[in-house]
Amino acid sequence: MTKRLVILVSGRGSNLQSILAACRSGQIPDTQVVAVISNRPSARALELAMAAGIPALTVDHRDYGTRTDFDAALQKQIDEYAPDIVALAGFMRQLTPAFVQHYEGKLLNVHPSLLPAFPGLHTHAQALRQGVCWHGASVHFVTAELDAGPVIIQAAVAVLPADDERSLAMRVLDAEHRIYPQALAWLVSGRVTYAAGRAQWREPPQTAMREAIAPSLESSP
Ligand code: GRF
Repeated sequence: MTKRLVILVSGRGSNLQSILAACRSGQIPDTQVVAVISNRPSARALELAMAAGIPALTVDHRDYGTRTDFDAALQKQIDEYAPDIVALAGFMRQLTPAFVQHYEGKLLNVHPSLLPAFPGLHTHAQALRQGVCWHGASVHFVTAELDAGPVIIQAAVAVLPADDERSLAMRVLDAEHRIYPQALAWLVSGRVTYAAGRAQWREPPQTAMREAIAPSLESSP
């Protein structure tokens, strides 16, 4: 049966675009994006969703006094679309444990670092400040602790001597666009599931990681 995917956004929507393309091409099999929901009415991602003929809605966090109230309203809106999977794609709000619990095992996020390095904001600046050789992106199951849920897939990006935040962010974003559809495809097909606080694999994770990292290494100078 076709899986129902709801995507939560806050801004530009480039990850949304890569997921939509992967649904169209069949890279993410048997999956329909049934709604795109933003916490910001001005998010460009909403325009992209509308252009693709997908219901595009806003639950504005500024209309709610507490995180709990906002999350409850968001949850109500999401659940009207009866999703099998909820994907955070540049959704810039921290979620309450109750919300996260409600979607346990079906809530994914993309984060612009090789977690557990650099959780939170300004990951590219942190990577440059620390002088790491490798930076990258991670897709993980969302748990109550910020950016700490089990990782499904990562892509490494070499940090180059001439990099600034912008150039590094661009290459990491490109990695995000490759790994998020892959993680969703694995979740949809049941290759990866969430149980007992861990990502559980039908095939060894090392294989999965190699698949993800290889293209990034090949394209590095
Ligand atoms: C991405 O880098 C994502 O990892 C971060 O915010 C950015 C969103 O980009 N949390 P977009 O809206 O998908 O273009």
